[in-house]
Amino acid sequence: MLDKKPVLLSGIQPSGHLCIGNYLGALKNWKALQNSYDSIFLVVDMHAITVKQNPAELRQRCLAYVAQYIACGIDPEKSLIVIQSHVPQHAELMWVLNSITYMGELGRMTQFKDKSKKYEANINAGLFTYPVLMASDILIYQADLVPVGADQKQHLELARDLAGRFNTQYSDTFVLPEPYIPKTGARIMSLQEPDKKMSKSDINLNNLIAILDSPNTIRKKIKRAVTDSGSEIKIEESRPGISNLITLYSLLTEKSIDKVENQFEGKMYSDFKAELGEVIVDFLKPIQEKYNDIIQDKKYLEDVLKNGADEAYYRARKTLTKVYRKVGFISKK
Ligand code: TYM
Repeated sequence: MLDKKPVLLSGIQPSGHLCIGNYLGALKNWKALQNSYDSIFLVVDMHAITVKQNPAELRQRCLAYVAQYIACGIDPEKSLIVIQSHVPQHAELMWVLNSITYMGELGRMTQFKDKSKKYEANINAGLFTYPVLMASDILIYQADLVPVGADQKQHLELARDLAGRFNTQYSDTFVLPEPYIPKTGARIMSLQEPDKKMSKSDINLNNLIAILDSPNTIRKKIKRAVTDSGSEIKIEESRPGISNLITLYSLLTEKSIDKVENQFEGKMYSDFKAELGEVIVDFLKPIQEKYNDIIQDKKYLEDVLKNGADEAYYRARKTLTKVYRKVGFISKK
């Protein structure tokens, strides 16, 4: 029955602290869409090592991310949760796709440019070819839909271009994946520097709300969040700080922006921030409780990952066999 639904695929890099930006830009939609799609959710550990990681921490973080996916509403009975490195075909397909990807295309990727500035001492080839691995994650499962935040749009366009290029060069093989980018929540901004996106791997933890932050940490971070000069609680392009906080309030309470602005008309920033802090605390409480249960149950997590890897391996092998045949590799007898 699973196979009849269109395929949905997405993933998150296990780097830093999974944050409310990742939830609103990605996980929230994964949860909502998983009922109508045959869904695969990846923890992309191979992408993560393009930036230096502590191996022991990476291992722990991968499991913690799986537990957080489930705590945020991904149901392993409905969807596959897969560790990228458990399915070798991602890297194998990447090699084939590398051969139809132009250096110029990769050089234009804004994330590569940003990361090259941020990690100046470690501009490695993996950082450069990272979008090809991402294309491979998507195409190996013949994904129809890819729900992501706005920052991944350019990478998705490349995945579509590569699928189209391969199909033209070798005959129809890959589904062209469609992006799914939410209208609001696709770009949650940093709390201290609201002209930058909130990033889970930011070294300044005051810039982000982590899914697992304690209530007091959340209250403190929101209290300290940068608001702009002025006093009105209203969304305006010239006031990214307060606009971001209003967006957060609106998304987490599912109230329209108008309604939130009306609710806080005439109130002070401090009143609004205190309420927003409580909204976030209440929103994350059940997620954190569920996480605390799941993370202790290693056997359950292993079972989820084994099931995910076995099923994903089977599907990925099917695509890779086809691809190898099309490019002219002799099949192994
Ligand atoms: P990553 O790990 O940086 O982010 C994971 C997801 O969260 C979204 N996101 C945000 N959404 C709203 N506001 C923010 N501030 C914010 N920050 C991050 C991202 O858009 C993303 O959807 N390359 C990808 C991971 C990846 C992938 C894939 C995604 C690897 N293979 C295949 C989709 C399909 C990345 O680094 O996302």
